[in-house]
Amino acid sequence: MFARSAARILAAPSTRFFSASAVTQTKVAVLGAGGGIGQPLSLLLKNDPLVTSLSLYDIRGAPGVAADVSHVDTASEVKGYAADQLDQALEGVKVVVIPAGVPRKPGMTRDDLFNTNASIVRDLAAAVARVAPTAHILVISNPVNSTVPIVAATLEKAGVFNPRRLFGVTTLDVVRAARFLAEIKGATPSETVVTVIGGHSGPTIVPLLSQTPFGKDVAGETLDKLVYRIQFGGDEVVKAKDGAGSATLSMAYAGAKFANSLLRGLNGEKGVITPTFVKSPLYEDQGIDFFSSNVELGTEGVEKIHPIGPISAEEEKLLAACLPELKKNIEKGKAFVA
Ligand SMILES: NC(=O)c1ccc[n+]([C@@H]2O[C@H](COP(=O)([O-])OP(=O)(O)OC[C@H]3O[C@@H](n4cnc5c(N)ncnc54)[C@H](O)[C@@H]3O)[C@@H](O)[C@H]2O)c1
Repeated sequence: MFARSAARILAAPSTRFFSASAVTQTKVAVLGAGGGIGQPLSLLLKNDPLVTSLSLYDIRGAPGVAADVSHVDTASEVKGYAADQLDQALEGVKVVVIPAGVPRKPGMTRDDLFNTNASIVRDLAAAVARVAPTAHILVISNPVNSTVPIVAATLEKAGVFNPRRLFGVTTLDVVRAARFLAEIKGATPSETVVTVIGGHSGPTIVPLLSQTPFGKDVAGETLDKLVYRIQFGGDEVVKAKDGAGSATLSMAYAGAKFANSLLRGLNGEKGVITPTFVKSPLYEDQGIDFFSSNVELGTEGVEKIHPIGPISAEEEKLLAACLPELKKNIEKGKAFVA
């Protein structure tokens, strides 16, 4: 039931434009496929008609996940790769999604994960640079504000960095914003889509509610609480899971949703626009060269980075709090690879 409705959601926008047979071959790899996010994400990608082949890698358990997911009756092929088969897993892939690494426990910030996840992400990026240097890379592993600069610097060192092909997945913040605003307004989330800019951790998450018909009149304490919930929604899950990890199912949904947007863009669909954390000129003059804002996705990946547009006085304040923190996070990532 879950898989079928998820397949419908993921398939709906693309099937409007393409028949399955018209779609180009798209091999997608999931690195960290055995994990809490990796498993449901692999299932959702198996249901995406724009994925023609799925390559599942983890240091633990990927062949089992692949055997399981491969029985789902959709057209794509699925193969699993063991710990020592990273290079084989990456052969010929066009899109690499990375949810490998440790998740938070109660009381931890995303930055607390840096020490463990930085080297995992760096080593995986080095392998992508070596085996699939033109692949599009979608980074889920936290802290995204630092892991994306780590991937960029690693690719740069290898001489293969193309900023159009690197994305920090901030879609869960967008998903939460739509859901939480819909709850307040008694609307459906499809009516309450919110652009979320900045980065992906607490105060660096800046929802632009003033730009939406349902969000623009939310004010006072209701606004403060809503913004806080969007910024710290991840903590609700970490607390409720009580030591067993952070968001996995909603994150898998968000990851599959972003992957589908990218694949639609790569396949030539026009007007696919969604926030994502990319190398960006928007705040480069302040030393912040990665930023999430609305990005149009096209056949080469990033097609156009949209400006943030008019924002309210409250959002100006949120942005002022975001920028210095984001700058620190980005510099920490770069320093790790330097
Ligand atoms: N971007 C977001 O919005 C978002 C949301 C939630 C979680 N996350 C992050 O996603 C990451 C994964 O979370 P999870 O809940 O799936 O964790 P998990 O521990 O359940 O799974 C992580 C998986 O990564 C694998 N792994 C570790 N090192 C690896 C390596 N070198 N190569 C391949 N695989 C490796 C592990 O074996 C494990 O299967 C965490 O860093 C978490 O903070 C991001």
